[in-house]
Amino acid sequence: MGTPEQHRSLLSTDDLTDADLRAVVNRGADHAAGRPGGTRALAGDIVGVYFRMTSTRTRTAFSSGALRLGAQIVAYGPDDLQINTGESSEDTGRVFARMLDVIVARTGLPQQELAAWADPERLCVVNAMTAEEHPTQALTDLTTLKSRFGGIDGLRVVYVGEGNNTAAALALTLTRFPGVRFELRTPSGYGLTKDIRERAEEHARRSGASMVERHDMDALPHDTDVWYTTRWQTTGTSKPDANWRDVFAPFQVTRQLWEHSPKAVFMHDLPAHRGDEVTAEVLDGPTSIALDQAENKMHSAMAVLEWCRGAELTA
Ligand code: CP
Repeated sequence: MGTPEQHRSLLSTDDLTDADLRAVVNRGADHAAGRPGGTRALAGDIVGVYFRMTSTRTRTAFSSGALRLGAQIVAYGPDDLQINTGESSEDTGRVFARMLDVIVARTGLPQQELAAWADPERLCVVNAMTAEEHPTQALTDLTTLKSRFGGIDGLRVVYVGEGNNTAAALALTLTRFPGVRFELRTPSGYGLTKDIRERAEEHARRSGASMVERHDMDALPHDTDVWYTTRWQTTGTSKPDANWRDVFAPFQVTRQLWEHSPKAVFMHDLPAHRGDEVTAEVLDGPTSIALDQAENKMHSAMAVLEWCRGAELTA
C-alpha cells in the first residue's frame, strides 16, 4: 500500500481516470488468467460487506475476492444494522469509517448518501449497485471483453433491453475507449436517463467512440461483436406501467439476432429469466459467455479492492 494509506472510493466509474479504468480492467483480466498469483495486497485490512438487497454474484465476488487478497470480512445482511431502527445513514458511515478500511455496499440508498460515507483518510466505499449505476458490473464486463477479445478499443457492442443501472455503467465506460461503437435498443420510456446519456456522449466525443440509442429493433447492425441484455425486472425496481411486458416483448434476445451478426458473443449480467429477456437456447448456447462474466465478477472485484487501497496497477 502507498504511504499514507490510500482510501479511494468507487461510487461511479467516473471516479476512475481513463488510466485507472484501463488499469483496473487489465488487472481484472490478469487475475482471471491467474497471472498475479497469490497476491495478499489487502493483508491486515477489514472489509465490510453490506447487502441490504439481494445479490448472488456481487456479494460473493467481493467476499471471496477480499479473502483471497488476505483481508478479513465483516458481513451485514438486510436486517443487521441499526439503520433499520432509525439510525441515520450519516452516523452509520461515520462508525464504519472508525472500524473498517473498505465498505462494499448495496443499500438501496441514493448514490449521494452512499458517497457521503467515503473518507479519503479512513474508508473506501464501493458502490455494489445503486438505482443510478452498477459500476462494478461494467468493470466486470470490460474485464470479460478484454479477456475475450484482447482489448476493448474498436469493439461493437449492442445492448438490448432496459436502460437500467447496468446499461448506464456500460454507457459510461465503453464510450471512453477509442473506436468503440455502443448501440442501445431500449423500449420507449425505458431508456437511459438524460444525465447518463449526456455524460456518456461527452466521453464519446472526447475519446472517439460513438453511442447511439434507438427504441426499436429495426435495421440491426451486421457486424456486432457482442449482443448484451439484462433482466427486464431490474433488482430493486418495479414498473409503473401495467402493460410493460407488451412494450418489452420485441426486445427479447433470440437466435434470430445471430442472422445479423453470426460471430457475436452473448453477454448477460445475470440473474436471468429465460423466456423473458433471452431464450434458453441463447443463454445456454455456444455463443454465451454469461458464466465467464459471472466468474469475472470476482477477478474484477479483486482489482477494484486493490485500486481502492492504492496498489500501483498498470494501464
Ligand atoms: N449482476 C449482479 O449484480 O448480480 P447479483 O445481483 O447477483 O449481485
